[in-house]
Amino acid sequence: MGPRFQVCLFVIFIQILVVAASTNSIDVDALNALKSKWKNTPPNWVGSDPCGSSWDGISCNNSRVTSMVLAGMDLTGSLSNDILSLSELQYLDLSNNKGLTGTLPSSIGNLNQLTTLILIGCSFSGPIPDSIGSLQQLVFLALNANSFSGPIPPSIGNLSNLSWLDLTDNQLNGTIPVSSRSTTGTGLDMLVKARHFHLGMNQLFGSIPSQLFHSNMNLIHAIFDNNKLTGSIPDTLGYVQTLEVIRFNWNSLNGPVPSNLNNLTSVSELYLANNNLNGPLPNLTGMNFLNSLDMSNNSFNSSTVPPWLTSLEALTTLMMEHTQLQGIIPVNLFSLPQLQTVVLSNNELNGTLTIAANYSSQLTLIDLQNNSISGYTAATGSSMDLLLADNPICQGAGATGSYCTAQKTNSSNFTPLNNCTSVTCGSNKVLSLNCKCAYPYTGTLHFISFSFSNLKNLSYYSSLSGSLMSAFLSNQLPVDSITVSDPSIDIYSYLQFRVQIFPSGQDQFNRTAVSSIGTLLNRQPFQLNNFGPFFFIDESYSFAGTTSKSSKTGILVGAVIGSFVLVLLFLGVGFYAFHQKKRAKRAAEQNPFASWVTNNDIDGIPQLKGARSFPFEELKKCTDYFLEDNVIGSGGYGKVYKGTLASGQIVAIKRAQQGSLQGALEFKTEIELLSRIHHKNVVNLVGFCYEQGEQMLVYEYVPNGTLKENLSGKSRFQLDWTRRLSMALDSARGLAYMHELANPPIIHRDIKSTNILLDDRLTAKVADFGLSKLSDSEKGYVTTQVKGTLGYMDPEYYMTQQLTDKSDVYSFGVVLLELVTARAPIERGKHIVREVKEAMDKSKDPYKLHEILDPALDTTLTGLDKYVELAMSCVRDSGTERPTMGEVVREIENIIKLASLNQNTKSTTTSSSYEGSIHNPYGSEDLFDHSAGFLPLDIERQ
Ligand SMILES: *[C@@H]1O[C@H](CO)[C@@H](O)[C@H](O)[C@H]1NC(C)=O
Ligand SMILES: *[C@@H]1O[C@H](CO)[C@@H](O)[C@H](O)[C@H]1NC(C)=O
Ligand SMILES: *[C@@H]1O[C@H](CO)[C@@H](O)[C@H](O)[C@H]1NC(C)=O
Ligand SMILES: *[C@@H]1O[C@H](CO)[C@@H](O)[C@H](O)[C@H]1NC(C)=O
Ligand SMILES: *[C@@H]1O[C@H](CO)[C@@H](O)[C@H](O)[C@H]1NC(C)=O
Repeated sequence: MGPRFQVCLFVIFIQILVVAASTNSIDVDALNALKSKWKNTPPNWVGSDPCGSSWDGISCNNSRVTSMVLAGMDLTGSLSNDILSLSELQYLDLSNNKGLTGTLPSSIGNLNQLTTLILIGCSFSGPIPDSIGSLQQLVFLALNANSFSGPIPPSIGNLSNLSWLDLTDNQLNGTIPVSSRSTTGTGLDMLVKARHFHLGMNQLFGSIPSQLFHSNMNLIHAIFDNNKLTGSIPDTLGYVQTLEVIRFNWNSLNGPVPSNLNNLTSVSELYLANNNLNGPLPNLTGMNFLNSLDMSNNSFNSSTVPPWLTSLEALTTLMMEHTQLQGIIPVNLFSLPQLQTVVLSNNELNGTLTIAANYSSQLTLIDLQNNSISGYTAATGSSMDLLLADNPICQGAGATGSYCTAQKTNSSNFTPLNNCTSVTCGSNKVLSLNCKCAYPYTGTLHFISFSFSNLKNLSYYSSLSGSLMSAFLSNQLPVDSITVSDPSIDIYSYLQFRVQIFPSGQDQFNRTAVSSIGTLLNRQPFQLNNFGPFFFIDESYSFAGTTSKSSKTGILVGAVIGSFVLVLLFLGVGFYAFHQKKRAKRAAEQNPFASWVTNNDIDGIPQLKGARSFPFEELKKCTDYFLEDNVIGSGGYGKVYKGTLASGQIVAIKRAQQGSLQGALEFKTEIELLSRIHHKNVVNLVGFCYEQGEQMLVYEYVPNGTLKENLSGKSRFQLDWTRRLSMALDSARGLAYMHELANPPIIHRDIKSTNILLDDRLTAKVADFGLSKLSDSEKGYVTTQVKGTLGYMDPEYYMTQQLTDKSDVYSFGVVLLELVTARAPIERGKHIVREVKEAMDKSKDPYKLHEILDPALDTTLTGLDKYVELAMSCVRDSGTERPTMGEVVREIENIIKLASLNQNTKSTTTSSSYEGSIHNPYGSEDLFDHSAGFLPLDIERQ
């Protein structure tokens, strides 16, 4: 041991002695009390000097704790009154601790030095305490993505320094408080320094008070979407000259749009969609900076496309679906230089659609479905997606344009390319864009505002990750690189995507780094080009790296033997580490479903679209008291009943039996998910019942049985080659929709021929999304992790337990083979994939497979070789080598084109037998009488 080393140790030793007593004892007691009530506090929270020994997440000034940042630490427990003793606290961020539950203690009002309070993505519930109005210094308040309920306390109006108010995504109800109406004489109108009101995704009701807005405000964001607001938009809104983003979409607002909105010349995003607004379309000529305009689904007076639209030079996104537009679309609309997306579907637009040569080079989508357009001329080489289905131009014999069948294409599975040559990362590490294997800190960025809609334009993401990177670096955070992927815009016009943040220097982040990244993102003291504010919800980060901390301490202790303080410290660490059990799993223990159950106000849940809540009594009646005769299917989950609703609609009711009921939260999530799915090739959810201990899902009834039954020879329909191709196409489309357009994307997990149903026109529909999750009850007697059906299950998923959309592609490949062979995936111990491979090998002529083809099929099947090739590509061993469902759809379309070209030269006798049967759509109901195949509910136990 050299003298220098001893000096160094000495210095450390002295420092430790000096700081040992440096933390104010009130703060020490408060932190220890919080620690005793929380699980997963940082392992270095030991000893009696949080300031001196630098507890993770704690910063001090003059022996007082001034900042507590424990974002993304996986804390569990509640926020107790002990917090009130930290009276010098200025900055408190406990975001992304989904295990933090219970109410906010009213003593939080004692923290009167607090400037910043961030509790995003925890599981707090109950009311926001009135005492929050005592936090006179507060500048930044973000309580998003919790389960806070009750009204917005009017006392918030006392926060005269508040700049940022974000209460997005809670269950707040009541009216918007304004000073002239509240008993305390306080309200949001008093917040003249506020720049941001983010109150979307709540259950606020009543009208928007006209007193809320006035010309002294400095508001740039007025965001009130997805509430239950009624009445009209107050014209006082037009006085707030600073406004840049206005979002009132998904409420029940009515009346005309005030004409003075045209005064708001800084507005870049205006969302008024999905209300009952009426009167004339507003004149927005003044909004020179308008990027996004969404007025869809309102009751405006019918009008032609307003001329001022074509003068909005900054417009990127125009959404006016279902707004009673008529007449011809002006040609110069498409030449707006920034234009990316035009959605004017479900109007009465007519005449000839003309896209002249000077159309915007950024234009990627024109959706004009369901109008009266009768002609189309376009400049050569126009490359945007054009959708014209359900227009006169797509009816009749000449309707051959691809625009008649085109569907919105996916743009949401963008993953940036890296230039790394053949690097594979072991032990769950991920490859960064800089070709390093590491454990990234991962989460989703939720953008409340953004100026574009072309998700395929990569420059947005590189500019975003560049800006975030420079924010990290200028805050000295150890970040190596960022990967941004999977962008999507949901139906409420929120943009989200996944971000992976890679550590520099080491292969993983420590607690301080994760917490600092989390708080930088959620406090966002920076601005981003083209992107407005956002919030960040993380995926739990696994800190294997507690070792690095304790090993450092170990060296220190080893060197300073005899230092009583340090030995105690060391013992403390050891003791703590011993007691630190494996990380508790994140789980929102409390019941976010409560408001549904107690209020019985299910229809009001903003996330729920299209699906109805049925009273138990109604479903009981419509199934004749769940009469056994009405059972059309059963499985481990329960039974499926056929029933007729009062409206006459025939439905299939899936009723969970005792033992397969899922948690309220899962059930709620499931319904929210299923209710967003609307596609003609997916069985539609009509509603659900959550009453009297029952959980039922009500689906549209699909009369013609499963694909499997129809292939098994029981079918009364002759399934010729074209018919089978079209069933393959239908189901592929349904699945592609789930993968690529549903939001969030959904992986089916249990694609099989019994989960594909045929309707009265033999259109195939994919059934039972979420099924695997449904049967995934805790007590499940089936396999614990991997879900699916033997024979269809992706072997890669089975081995890695990592589910991707490519697992569905595998199962779909098996279904494709089943369609031409009419064999079960496993027969006589042999798997269909192997059999087809063997048959292909044996015949040497790759696609002469006749020995295993369904004998009911013709012998000359045009496109069979391509079809088998496609099926075999779907069942490739490695998911990454399989096509996406979108690619499968396109390939089947090509095969159908081939087959129909060929068909036209022959006479078609087979299809007439099918034609004959559609006039008797329910004629084959007997197929169902003993069927256990309809919506089969659990994994086949073989
Ligand atoms: C508002 O929410 C609270 C708490 O969930 C509930 O008790 C109350 O009845 C609700 N009020 C209304 C009018 O919906
Ligand atoms: C706002 O608009 C109204 C009418 O639309 C007009 O009379 C008024 O002068 C405008 N105010 C400002 C500040 O531009
Ligand atoms: C819209 O408002 C502008 C002035 O703000 C006016 O010049 C123009 O004529 C108006 N357009 C229509 C169609 O009313
Ligand atoms: C288009 O619709 C308008 C208004 O409904 C009507 O006046 C006009 O004649 C129609 N034009 C064509 C070409 O159908
Ligand atoms: C990969 O290489 C291309 C061409 O050299 C380059 O433009 C791109 O930026 C590189 N990507 C990354 C992530 O380094």
